[in-house]
Amino acid sequence: MEELIPIASKLQDVLGALGQNTNLDLPQIVVIGGQSSGKSSVLESVVGRSFLPRGTGIVTRRPLVLQLFNTASPPDDGLDEDGGDDDDDDDYDDDGVGDGDDDYDDDGGDGVDERKADRRGGALRHPRRGGVNDRRGRRRRRRQTTTTAESVPTGPSPPSQEWGEFLHQPGKRYYDFSQIRDEISRDTNRLAGLHSKGVSPTPIHLKIYSPNVLSLTMVDLPGLTKVAIKDQPEDIEEQIYSINCQYGSNPNAILLAVTSANTDLASSDALKLARQLDPRGERTIGVLTKLDLMDPGTDASEILHNRIVPLRRGYVAVVNRGQRDIDADLSIRVGLRNEERFFRTHPVYSRDRSILGRCGTVNLARNLNSILIHHIRECLPELKIRIANMMGDVQGELDALGMPEGSGRADDDPGVLGGKLLGLLSKFSANFAAMIDGRA
Ligand code: GDP
Ligand code: NA
Ligand code: MG
Repeated sequence: MEELIPIASKLQDVLGALGQNTNLDLPQIVVIGGQSSGKSSVLESVVGRSFLPRGTGIVTRRPLVLQLFNTASPPDDGLDEDGGDDDDDDDYDDDGVGDGDDDYDDDGGDGVDERKADRRGGALRHPRRGGVNDRRGRRRRRRQTTTTAESVPTGPSPPSQEWGEFLHQPGKRYYDFSQIRDEISRDTNRLAGLHSKGVSPTPIHLKIYSPNVLSLTMVDLPGLTKVAIKDQPEDIEEQIYSINCQYGSNPNAILLAVTSANTDLASSDALKLARQLDPRGERTIGVLTKLDLMDPGTDASEILHNRIVPLRRGYVAVVNRGQRDIDADLSIRVGLRNEERFFRTHPVYSRDRSILGRCGTVNLARNLNSILIHHIRECLPELKIRIANMMGDVQGELDALGMPEGSGRADDDPGVLGGKLLGLLSKFSANFAAMIDGRA
């Protein structure tokens, strides 16, 4: 079932190339919460690259709308890899998941140690490239090569494969992600004031192109505060609040409600706002950060058991890089490895199998994935109809040309092209049909 995402993203590519919109309309992921609770850090580790300004005090001062684009391979030759070939079909079958929100409930038995943080860093990275949602891929690789997931060679992609581009600087590609961070700071200062600590509701739009990400949108926001500090306007609290509401009220937004574990959950700004924006708790995931900074002798297991402030989708606990790590330029990869070790060796979390599946960025990403899969599934029936219609249209055009499928020879022959297109569409159609019918 996890194969759904690469297929859906490939479908988006193909239909996009044909000038069609797939209307998958994937949910946006929006982080909300108090200032310095770790929102930007969480977002970064889910994306798997360091590119956001982070730190104590008010750092994020404008909304950052981050659009991720998967650049895996051109639609025509990528199809056979992902889309329709017969070997892939079997892969859907051996995974009993796929029922959306229920997925994480039966994860308790999976220890974090089985799901090592993606060594490239990054958690929602594209499955084909070894993201955490690549469980089956790993299994397959393991079967074929008898290597373990840990010894599968990975490493950062060559610089030319991943780049960022700002809406306010069209055509300028950033290959160095630290320069992306500098530009975010620079443009934040431009609009929100250099020496003031003011905020601005005008978003920064950043696109990241990479073969290692899923195509979706994430939004980083200024954190909620209580009092205006020096150089801040008196109404700063309301300003930030309204920016958070603006993005968080989108019914298509998944709220990552971030609270640091070394503060009291009952006073969480994130949970308070999430409850207002999403009273039924359908699109809120609680994220606890800074587990490493809890007082010795205390732990978050009661929260993770959903007993303190229950959330329908529950909580996931993470350990991000601390300020010292940031100052030392510690990579995401090392950060994720440290996080994994923290939970694996923790005297409480490592022994409680029912919450281990709720510990770590890897599990946060799995959680997000299952929500996305659920969403894509809901879009499938409509897509299936549209694909059938398109196939009908293509066939009709071929008939009108008096050319049976594939009768021509040259590559630019409409009959050949049309036949090729028809082939692609029917491959997809077969795959989607299998998913909808629950065979996936
Ligand atoms: P934001 O203001 O909510 O976006 O928070 P940031 O991501 O900028 O983080 C604020 C500060 O908290 C930074 O110094 C981070 O290094 C630190 N931080 C965030 N998460 C953690 C964590 O899980 N553990 C530790 N030790 N520090 C963290
Ligand atoms: Na901060
Ligand atoms: Mg921030």
